[in-house]
Order: sequence, then structure tokens, then C-alpha cells
Amino acid sequence: MLNPDPTTSDEAVREYILSQVNKDQLRFLTCGSVDDGKSTLIGRLLYDTKLIFEDQLAALERDSTRHGTVGDDIDLALLVDGLEAEREQGITIDVAYRFFATDRRKFIVADTPGHEQYTRNMATGASTADLAVLLVDARNGLMTQTRRHAFIASLLGIHHVVLAINKIDLVGYSQERFREIEAEFRAFAQGFDFETLVAIPLSARYGDNVTAPGDNMPWYQGPTLLEHLETVEVGRDDAARPFRFPVQWVNRPNLDFRGFSGTIAGGRVSVGDEVVVAASGRTSTVKTILSQVGEAQSAASGEAVTLVLADEIDASRGDVIASAAARPDVADQFAAHLIWMSEDALLPGRSYLLKIGTRTVTASVTEIKHKINVNTFERVAAKTLELNEIAFANLALTVPVAFDPYEASRTTGSFILIDRLTNATVGAGMVWFALRRATNIHWQALEVDQAARAQSLGQIPAALWFTGLSGSGKSTVASLLEKKLHVRGRHTYTLDGDNVRHGLNRDLGFTDADRVENIRRVGEVARLFVDAGLLTLVSFISPFRSERAMARELFPDGRFIEVFIDTPIEECRRRDPKGLYRKADAGELRNFTGVDSPYEAPENPELHIRTLGRDPEEIVDEIIAYLEANDLI
Ligand code: ADX
Repeated sequence: MLNPDPTTSDEAVREYILSQVNKDQLRFLTCGSVDDGKSTLIGRLLYDTKLIFEDQLAALERDSTRHGTVGDDIDLALLVDGLEAEREQGITIDVAYRFFATDRRKFIVADTPGHEQYTRNMATGASTADLAVLLVDARNGLMTQTRRHAFIASLLGIHHVVLAINKIDLVGYSQERFREIEAEFRAFAQGFDFETLVAIPLSARYGDNVTAPGDNMPWYQGPTLLEHLETVEVGRDDAARPFRFPVQWVNRPNLDFRGFSGTIAGGRVSVGDEVVVAASGRTSTVKTILSQVGEAQSAASGEAVTLVLADEIDASRGDVIASAAARPDVADQFAAHLIWMSEDALLPGRSYLLKIGTRTVTASVTEIKHKINVNTFERVAAKTLELNEIAFANLALTVPVAFDPYEASRTTGSFILIDRLTNATVGAGMVWFALRRATNIHWQALEVDQAARAQSLGQIPAALWFTGLSGSGKSTVASLLEKKLHVRGRHTYTLDGDNVRHGLNRDLGFTDADRVENIRRVGEVARLFVDAGLLTLVSFISPFRSERAMARELFPDGRFIEVFIDTPIEECRRRDPKGLYRKADAGELRNFTGVDSPYEAPENPELHIRTLGRDPEEIVDEIIAYLEANDLI
């Protein structure tokens, strides 16, 4: 509704809008095992708070007779399990957000699936929630899933938990059964620092203790679920934290104006405050704050604003402007909890994109300290991380970023990992602390540099990266090419998989993780050889696109030539120069490329060489022609 009073100041209008936006709000999530009745419970909450519209109600009654599993009653779960596919499967498969309100509070509820493999969805729903409603079926009591969900909730910083002991009608409204489950959960939850933990006996189907007590449990004196949700103090005062402002973009419409735009991620800022650009350490004061309703004296967490600073200091997208008196950490290495969300395992050493706030950088996991068994909470050693697994790990970033420990701030302390090739989110992380180990090692600038060395050798150094199956002919082609380059007076070196694996990489085998590390090291070595001024031939299966892409990035444009030696596996198997295919096919050699370990063919190699029917001479001449055409020799 518009305020008709023309005398109201902009500031007052703004305050009013904000008070509505920020009307006391509770974000919670529900989780439980399949069939615990989550959807029915949320449906009941919506139904009893009269937030279902007439047409939805009519559809619900119709659908209940079609799919319903509760006889003549309306099946409230159908209201919530929106997707037709879900209804037919009878399980909830994605995070669904519902909004409802009472006079006292607004609610956003994330309904997350209970199905075994959807830990990642729960993590998605939980990352912004203040409270978790853990459902258990009174007949079954605590399940592995219940424990796992409690653990993930605590890991994600949820400090308030409701243990909703549902289907109490099916155990004769038994107080004894309720107390038994409650006691077991309290004992289990002692290890987590939940600030509030309330157990409520209820029947989502009949409504007891959901929004009203009902007559069946006179022994229960506690609040109904809705009462508790309306009154619980979650004390999440983002505005009370130090000021954090990840810059989304630099607003520079003309030379006279430069503002930094973004959403305040924590704390509050006022005109005159001293602020710092976290990474550079440059300080200034806030000159102007522009909010959505005009100029403001101050603004708080959650608001989208543009800040104008008193000094011309540099900050760009991805930088964090922060309170100068309470600065965030800035580091390029940190320890974090990771929840893995991809079917493809996390491989230490592989490079991913890490997005923290508005900043996206390249990062890799340098070490998995331990994995956490989410059922027993034991720490287990691990080399890789599979879908839905959780680990504590060290990460290294290519450039320092600003962050707060997750404990202090869920907004500036969390990040996601993105696959560089598919752009899919593959992991979520919570930062614990910065690692300072490598920060005092600086790159030594040497006076005789690559250009000087290349000049004295009279050539342009580059890496020729041969990739292909074992037995495809990589080494044969590389060695003949090197001979021909040598004849032409070129200075060369060849790094060959079989040879390097005898020395530098003799600690590595053929698991995916070891191959990633193998290629990472060889990429670095190749870079040093190219830096030395040599034409460097690298002959490794290098089966993964990610690591070839990572190697490519170590070189300037045009100095990394990917040569795909493309020989069909049948032909490699027929040649079988080392008898390895025979062994692999007989099951005597595990993880053999092309047999039980993948080979990801290059998509855009500089040279794609199909070897069938061609002899090595011909192939080498083609490569030489390419090098000549590109002025490399
Ligand atoms: S890579 O995948 O990590 O790039 P690399 O090129 O170093 O492999 O080593 C491949 C060579 O190791 C093969 O040519 C073959 O001689 C030998 N080898 C032994 N076991 C395997 C295996 N399981 N898979 C592939 N190659 C193997």
C-alpha cells in the first residue's frame, strides 16, 4: 500500500519497507526419512494456517481420490509434493521452498528430501536455515538418517532443532514411547552445540500438536509445533556482525561518479565509517550510501546498496569492502569442511572454480585431512571424496580471497566448488581457518629469464603435449619428432610417462587421484623446461580433460600444443606392445585406461591425428608443418 502522506521523508518510507521485508522471519527446514510424513506435516501447517486457496483445495480433493493413500481424507502430502513424478514415485526429490505467515512471523520452509542419496539437497536447504525440524516416525524411532541430518544441520551452523515425533497416533499416543525417543536423541545430540532442542509429539495427519494441541495427549504440556516456531528466539542478528560488502560491480556511469554496488553480507554501514578493501588493505571512508529508495545515512545486512567512498581507491568485482576496525581474513590457503555433490569424485590436485561471495577463483584441494562417516561420525582416511560424502580438507587458491570463518559468518564463510568443464556445482564448503604456511614464499624474479634463454638458443620454446591411449603411438611419434627437430638444430627434451614414473613420480599408481597428481607434476616440470628455453615434448596418456586444461594454463597462449594421437582401442589392443591390454582384459591389471578407467578424448586439440593407415614419418611431417605454419620453428 502506498503511503499517501506527502510529508513522509524518504528515510521513513525506507524504514517502513524494511520493517515489512524484515518482519520477524524464521527460515527452517524439515528433514526425515522417506515416509516420516514431512510433506503431510508441511501440508498440515499450510492448511491449518489457512493459506491454501480455494482452487488449490479443490484440486487437492480431486487428486486425493486419484493418488491418495489415506482413504477418504484429504491427503495433505499431495499439496506439498508438487511434482507429478514425485507423487507417482511416492518420494520427495528436490528442495522445495514454501512461504507462509502468521500474525507473529513469516516463515520460509525448505522441504528437503529424505531419500538416502540426497544429502546434497539437504545441505542446499540447510545453508540458509535457522532451525531444523527433524521428523521421526514414532513407530521406528531414530534412524541413521535422523542422526545424519542432525549432524549435517549442526555442520551447517543450525543451532535450533525440533525433534518432531510424528505418527504418535499409531503408537496409541504413548507418552512412554515419546519419552524414550526423546531421551535417545538428547543423549545423541549432546555432541552438537544446539542452543535449543525441543521434542514435540504430534500427528501430522490428524493435526495433534501441529497448530493446536488436540485432546489426545493431555500428558504433553509443551508448545505445539507452530507455537514453538512462532516464538523460538534464533538470535541471528546479521546486522550486529562486522560490516562485509562483497562488490558485485563497479558502477561508473561517467568520470565524476564511481560507486561500488552489491548486497551487504553482514553488519551495517553508515556515512563516515572507515572501511577497507580487504585484499589490498587500502582504506577510505564512506561518503555516500545509495539504497533502493534513495540516499541513506546507513544500511544493514541484506540491503542492496551502492557505496561511494571518499578516496579514489581501487576495488573491483569480487573484492570485499569491510569495516576497517574488524577486517576479514585474507588468505590463499584454508582448511574447510566440504560436502561433495557430484557423481564424479573429488580428486585432490584437480583444479576447480571456487566461488566465495562475488569472487570466483581457481582452486584445488591439496589434502583431504579426513572423511567423516556421517552415520558413525568417525574420521576416516581418504584419497578422494564421493557423492554426498563430507570431509575436512585443505584448499589452495590461485589468489588470496577475503573470508570469515563459517562459525562467525555463514555468508562470508561459505563457498561452492564448480567443475570447470561442465560448470556444474560439485561441492559446498565451510571455511574453518586460514593456513599461513606458504604466504612467505615469494616468486623469485631471476634476471636471466625465459626470453633471454630462448634468444641465446635461437628458438621459441613451447610444450608439445601428446595425449592418447596406451599403445596409441605417442612415444613413437614423439621420439621421431624429437629426432627431426634435433637434426634441424632445435633444442628439445622429451618427458615420457613410463620414464618419469620411474623417478619423480614413482610414488604414483593409476587411480584417478594418482593420475591427476601425475599430470599436475609433469605439467609443472614441462613448464620449467619451457622456461629453460626448450621445445618440450610431453608424452603421457593424460586421460582427463581437466588436467590437460590445467596444464594448458601454465603456458602463454600458443605455446601449448595439444596433439591427440587418436588410435582406436581395438588397434591398440591388437598391437599391445607391452602385453598390458592382455593382462587388463584378463583382470590381472586394474584401472587400465580404456578398459576399466576412462579416457576423455580432447575436444579441441591443436592437432588431431588419426593414426590408422598412416606411418610415423607422415604423422611427424604433419606436426612439423603445423609448427612451421605457426612460426614455432
Ligand atoms: S597417465 O594416465 O597418468 O597419464 P602415464 O602416461 O603416466 O599415464 O603412464 C602410462 C603408462 O603406464 C602406459 O603406457 C603403460 O605402459 C603403463 N601402465 C601400467 N599400468 C597402467 C594402467 N593401469 N593404465 C594405463 N597405463 C598403465
